[in-house]
Amino acid sequence: MNRTWFGALALLALSSVSATSAQGPALDRLMHRKLECSQKILEAVVTSQWEDLDARTREMEALTDGPAWMVLTAPEYALHSAGFIRAVRTLREAAARRDLDATPTAYAALTLSCVECHRYLARNRLAGK
Ligand code: HEC
Repeated sequence: MNRTWFGALALLALSSVSATSAQGPALDRLMHRKLECSQKILEAVVTSQWEDLDARTREMEALTDGPAWMVLTAPEYALHSAGFIRAVRTLREAAARRDLDATPTAYAALTLSCVECHRYLARNRLAGK
């Protein structure tokens, strides 16, 4: 797997988020922790640091347990929220098996699930909701 590709995905995830937030500071802080966490995950994936990867994916799962994330379980987000949680779990399981093929693929899927939810938000905003 090549790093440029992961880098491009990570950038894509970022660039599709608008600078202003309609959801409040708690969610912003959560998203920034999520971003940091996903960058650490990327580092662990490309260097095959399995223990670190295990710890980071658990951290990511913990972030989706808090009250700030609950905003995202509202019906309009529920699908994307569930997809994201599934993607984190798939990554943790692939890492637990030390699976060199499934792990980077699962990381890519996780990043795409960030992008998908953000795109969904952007579309709704364009539609004037
Ligand atoms: C279920 C939906 C959803 C998923 C999945 C999601 N986000 Fe977000 N993200 C949001 C919402 C809602 C906001 C607030 C944006 C707004 O209102 O403009 C946000 C904002 C952000 C912000 C900007 C925060 C700020 O200060 O403005 C970053 C960075 C971010 N997300 C990173 C991520 C990363 C990295 C992932 C994946 C690891 C991710 N997000 C997954 C919904 C999601």
